[in-house]
Amino acid sequence: MRRSWLSMSAVYTPMLGVPVLLYLYMIFNLLHFGTAADAVLYLAMAGLAVFSVVSFIDVFVDRHRPPHFLNLQEDSRTREHHADIDTTVDENVRIVEVKIKRFNPQSKKLEENSYKVRVDRFHSVLDTILDIKRKQDPTIAMRYSCRMGICGSCGMVVNGKPVLACETNVFKNMEEGSITVAPMQGHPLLKDLVTDFDDFFSRHASIAPNIHRKDEVEKYEAKKEYIQTKEELSKFLPFSYCIMCGLCVDACPVVNINPMFIGPQALSQVQRYHADSRDQLGVKRLDMVDKLTHVWDCEFAGACSEACPKGVDPALSIQLLKTEIVKRNFGRE
Ligand code: SF4
Ligand code: FES
Repeated sequence: MRRSWLSMSAVYTPMLGVPVLLYLYMIFNLLHFGTAADAVLYLAMAGLAVFSVVSFIDVFVDRHRPPHFLNLQEDSRTREHHADIDTTVDENVRIVEVKIKRFNPQSKKLEENSYKVRVDRFHSVLDTILDIKRKQDPTIAMRYSCRMGICGSCGMVVNGKPVLACETNVFKNMEEGSITVAPMQGHPLLKDLVTDFDDFFSRHASIAPNIHRKDEVEKYEAKKEYIQTKEELSKFLPFSYCIMCGLCVDACPVVNINPMFIGPQALSQVQRYHADSRDQLGVKRLDMVDKLTHVWDCEFAGACSEACPKGVDPALSIQLLKTEIVKRNFGRE
């Protein structure tokens, strides 16, 4: 981490300032070494002044040197590597052109960078971008963690489709020797391929995504386990596979034109808990989503279910909720 001017100035200004003031005082009060103690004092002040100047130069250099990945020598090495890319190909190896549309937060535009990469038939899009980061351009910002379709962090748009980069094979998705990668645009863009999930997570939190029991004591002093039949389990299990990757929200045409719509992920989780025989929130959950901005804004495009890498089927969950609400409302009359 770089040292800030503020923190460094707080240390070095007195160190430089005190000797300078003393020297000024000395110059204006006749320059002479009266006693040995004066000489020692002046020498100590001179030492401090030199140390302070050197420290200031050090901070200055630290603030103005380029980040390590822009080190020219290293940069030219990576370019060389790029130029010297091994172009031997066979049925298991290809040279692919990866076009990455990177969001520039300064210009607020997507800028396309293109890279040539040697990939084998097992390379995922995530592996390929990490390869580019390692060998050609370490400045690409992206998010990932598990590399195995579990954490939901690596969502991006490959050849126009929202997918998990770690689960998307490059060989199978090449179009005329190239693939195009862009950030999801159904979420606010932060930088390059990274999107902001704050709003997505708060929408999820707003639907009370946990099992509610009427008996508060039972939560802490449970006497026995909850027994569920296979039928009861099958009602909510498919919806519980959500990994919160946000691909369904990115794919949803309604969310993209109507930001007030809570979106397919949150609604699928309402169904997940509503269908769980252990949950006792009952009609309160239905009331929660019986709104224009919730289930009634869904136009059943089905793009969410098509995009979901875990087979959660948010479109189905919304239709099930609508059916429950209609039944409940007719039952009331
Ligand atoms: S429902 Fe599917 S696509 Fe949507 S966030 Fe969950 S796992 Fe991702
Ligand atoms: S890195 Fe975790 S889902 Fe892709």
